[in-house]
Amino acid sequence: MNHQIGLIGGGNMAQAIIAGLLKSGRSSSDILVSDPNQDCRKALAEMGITSFADSAPVMAQADLLVLAVKPQIMDSVLTTLVDSLRATQVIISIAAGITIHTIRRQLNDAQNPVVRVMPNTPALIGEGISALASDRTLSDDIKIAVQEIFDACGKALWVPSEDAIDAVTAVSGSGPAYFFLMIENLINTGVRLGLSPEIARALVIQTAKGAAGMVEASDVGPSVLRERVTSPGGTTEAALNVFNEGDFADLVDRALIAARDRAGELSKDAP
Ligand SMILES: NC(=O)c1ccc[n+]([C@@H]2O[C@H](COP(=O)([O-])OP(=O)(O)OC[C@H]3O[C@@H](n4cnc5c(N)ncnc54)[C@H](OP(=O)(O)O)[C@@H]3O)[C@@H](O)[C@H]2O)c1
Repeated sequence: MNHQIGLIGGGNMAQAIIAGLLKSGRSSSDILVSDPNQDCRKALAEMGITSFADSAPVMAQADLLVLAVKPQIMDSVLTTLVDSLRATQVIISIAAGITIHTIRRQLNDAQNPVVRVMPNTPALIGEGISALASDRTLSDDIKIAVQEIFDACGKALWVPSEDAIDAVTAVSGSGPAYFFLMIENLINTGVRLGLSPEIARALVIQTAKGAAGMVEASDVGPSVLRERVTSPGGTTEAALNVFNEGDFADLVDRALIAARDRAGELSKDAP
């Protein structure tokens, strides 16, 4: 039997998740959304999804409850859900920086299974990666049901504990922006070297996809792949020497530590 999936908040991430679910063959009748925003509900109706301004119908029917509202309003949203929460409902939060402890506390110390998820923006095109964590041991049924939701908009994996979520945020949550930065600079410099913007863009995008695909397909790590394309005295070596002179590895290290630490601070600041 398919679980009923209820989403509280039907914005960008919710719509990405729903698009993935529908594409993976899930029936629209398995999905319910509550969102007070009329434009959002119109967009959901166009996807064939039933939505409500109020959370009551979703709370009454959902087995798996996905909290997809902005972190700033999570506190007030949880307060409105507490009275209608059923003990068997699985709570899944995608809100950045909101801990499972905070969710339980706002729900009057609810003992429901709670899963915290850190998705990333490529979910919008079905290429996201989501890390899933819980504070309790979950049944295989629940783990599979939750994982299926996030596999539908890319890939999903479980991390051993919620403690890993700040590092996940630093690597894959913020990660798309690092690659955007690299892609942006490669295109700009390609143009400075005389290529047209269209050609530079096409070359960089396919190179990024191809490199990621090679890492994924290969049984050796990225450093071996890098060495294999770096002939002594060649062009790649000339470029890599410049990256190394700027201590690229240390720069990446410091950038991710800054992101990880900021994620921790934001979780502490959350209501
Ligand atoms: N976007 C990302 O890449 C990304 C990545 C990782 C995690 N996340 C997390 O995903 C969550 C959603 O982000 P998003 O980008 O999808 O935000 P969003 O597009 O603003 O969607 C949130 C929706 O919730 C609605 N809403 C407001 N109050 C509500 C209530 N009481 N009940 C139900 N819905 C309500 C909002 O309506 P109004 O617009 O009228 O307020 C809006 O339509 C956030 O917590 C964020 O941290 C997002």
